[in-house]
Amino acid sequence: MIAIKENISLQKDNTLHLDVKTRFFTEVHSLNDIVDVTNISRFKNTPILILGGGANILFTKNYDGLVIKNSLKGKKIIKENNNYVIIEIRSGEDWPELVAYTVENNWVGIENLAYIPGTVGASPVQNIGAYGQSLEDTFVSLEAIELSSGKIKVFAKEDCEFKYRDSIFKSELKDKYFIISIRLKLSKHFKSVDSSYHSRYESLEEELKSFAKPPFTLKNVYEAIIRIRQKKLPDINKVGTIGSTFANPFINKKQLLELQKKFPDIQFYPVDKMKYPSINNPNLQGADIVKIPAGWLLEEAGWKNKRIGNIGTHPDHALCVIAYKGATPEEFYSFTENMRRDFKEKYKIDLEYEVNII
Ligand code: EPU
Repeated sequence: MIAIKENISLQKDNTLHLDVKTRFFTEVHSLNDIVDVTNISRFKNTPILILGGGANILFTKNYDGLVIKNSLKGKKIIKENNNYVIIEIRSGEDWPELVAYTVENNWVGIENLAYIPGTVGASPVQNIGAYGQSLEDTFVSLEAIELSSGKIKVFAKEDCEFKYRDSIFKSELKDKYFIISIRLKLSKHFKSVDSSYHSRYESLEEELKSFAKPPFTLKNVYEAIIRIRQKKLPDINKVGTIGSTFANPFINKKQLLELQKKFPDIQFYPVDKMKYPSINNPNLQGADIVKIPAGWLLEEAGWKNKRIGNIGTHPDHALCVIAYKGATPEEFYSFTENMRRDFKEKYKIDLEYEVNII
């Protein structure tokens, strides 16, 4: 029978290293373990939280429920030919290690998602994305177990209802299913690099040119992405962080025109994916709703490299909030709520959390 512990600290299990406790805690290593958990009748009415790497969770207080730590490991090839490979990866595998493994094998499709902390099981929940790639681009299906019944179900891509940083597992089916594994279809042919990503301060193209010569390879792209991220995002092994704390907001054209009066250069993107078209893309100018970079506006509002007590924003990225040693959950939440309030006051735009608030 699976061991259930009581009153356990989650400090090692969240990347902010906040010292919060959970009432009950268990760790699953196999499908049997999950079935065991779903069969425990005393937990039928207890809130359940599935924890991967804890890289996208903001605990605001102790958790009065059962935390299930996901340690399901393993990956295998389901289908392979000269053009592509379909791989199945268990949900407790480390995402950055998976990306490294695919690049090592010269499989194309998730290289831009390098250096995103967390587990494989969390990747479809929020449809992770960066530098023009999203998980949905290579996603085939996933297998999950319904916690209330113990039944296994396969979700095809359409069933997952992927949107920008969102899926059915973040809304309607939140905490109802345990994702066992995901399948990805990766190409064996690296065509050319989409190096259109450019921020206010740097570009993927320039980064590539700084250490490699065209035509760039898959490994070059992987390395360039890691270099860009290392420059402006903190090292998760050194400081407490959850990456982008807020999602980039959607605004309408009228609001965009208003913002452009003050910030003529502000970037804006299509709503659906993280694509980086040129700023003057006519299709975008015509769009009714666009996505804008919260980090940019937060910097303009003075939130870059700002520190209050044990909480602060990154010196090079205002969207990235850091918990320093001794930080409490209450302190962190109050800091981020302050950011939201100020944003609303200055821009009349709501800033929504990208991370899960518990
Ligand atoms: N910017 C500033 N000041 C800042 C931060 C950003 O001016 O303090 C500017 C940048 O220079 C750039 C624009 O705002 O021109 C957008 O910033 P960036 O390119 O860094 O991307 P982002 O919109 O902040 C999103 C994702 C990231 C992902 C990057 C790269 C969200 C919420 N975040 O960030 O994902 O890595 O694009 O594609 O969608 C994450 O979700 O944890 C995450 C890191």
